[in-house]
Amino acid sequence: MIPLIQIVNLFLYVFSRLIENIPFRKIPISTKCLVGKTAIVTGGNRGIGFATATALASRGCKVIIADSQNGELSRDQIISDTENKNIVYKHLDLSSLQSVRDFAADICKTEDKIDILINNAGIGVTKKLVSEDGLNYIMQVNIFGAFLLTHLLLDLLKKAKSARVLFVSSIFVNTHNLNLDTLNITNYNMDDHYRTILYSNSKVCCILAAQEFNRKLKKHGIIANAIDPIGVKTQIFQTMKYFNNVLVSSGLALLLNIFHQNVQDVANHYLHVITEKDEEESTGQNYVLSSIARKPTILKNSQFCEDIWCKMEEIVGLKPKEKISS
Ligand SMILES: NC(=O)c1ccc[n+]([C@@H]2O[C@H](COP(=O)([O-])OP(=O)(O)OC[C@H]3O[C@@H](n4cnc5c(N)ncnc54)[C@H](OP(=O)(O)O)[C@@H]3O)[C@@H](O)[C@H]2O)c1
Repeated sequence: MIPLIQIVNLFLYVFSRLIENIPFRKIPISTKCLVGKTAIVTGGNRGIGFATATALASRGCKVIIADSQNGELSRDQIISDTENKNIVYKHLDLSSLQSVRDFAADICKTEDKIDILINNAGIGVTKKLVSEDGLNYIMQVNIFGAFLLTHLLLDLLKKAKSARVLFVSSIFVNTHNLNLDTLNITNYNMDDHYRTILYSNSKVCCILAAQEFNRKLKKHGIIANAIDPIGVKTQIFQTMKYFNNVLVSSGLALLLNIFHQNVQDVANHYLHVITEKDEEESTGQNYVLSSIARKPTILKNSQFCEDIWCKMEEIVGLKPKEKISS
């Protein structure tokens, strides 16, 4: 069971971040023309990913929707909404390392560069514990898959000269317990507390990935950031039913009902961070919408970040030539 004090702390934190970030913020509208650019949006099939794919398409970008299902419908909808015919759907199941490799190999055959990679796909609390690769399921979908995909697309990102990579974080990073032992637990207890923490851990890894990819790749013109969309009513919240704790699930539902944001507005924040935030101090950051936010303190520890990075390289089975040399 989650201790009451931790629940109260979580709600106070979530509430203060929502108050601070949502009600009176102006929505930034990026006016950058993206004709000639190519973007991949994972989880572009619905929710925030679909809205982001549509926003990119409306600025003339070629968009590749990478998702595990129903991508043809989303592709046709975007073409009809934006009149941009340069929209493609390709199958990607982030819960399978082989699927990530197959997807990347296909992209390397069909594209000569990737300008924008939005590692958006994600799941919330799930009952599935272990993937077909024997990895922690939530961690694999939310970060290991994106970590592998970003490595496998590096040559194409470098060819774009000024590529942008975005990872998606969350307000829940505040409750993480990430360390080398909790990074990929596969024999854990199914109590709701731990399952919630897995989501938090996966999102801390997303910020860590943005920070470290940015540090290692900026010499190639590649900029990486993370963004927290805060509260959008999407299907991800259906997984709240897996919280056994009624206090947590009803409290979150209440906060979401009061403070939720429009999905198109959030897509505009994604675009703003991708297209406008390129000064040195604006990169490798964790944004809440379009404002730089505090990262979990542990990410200031460079040895911790390097240890988690090396462990993830091992977990996803990167070959020596696929690793980023320092
Ligand atoms: N909504 C919020 O308030 C909020 C807040 C903080 C962070 N986020 C993050 O924002 C991102 C988008 O979430 P959302 O709110 O838009 O949720 P959503 O509507 O549930 O969309 C999630 C997307 O991820 C895809 N996906 C799930 N599992 C996948 C897999 N194994 N392989 C490939 N794609 C997969 C889903 O497609 P299929 O299931 O069709 O494959 C879907 O398109 C997530 O990373 C989430 O953690 C959302």
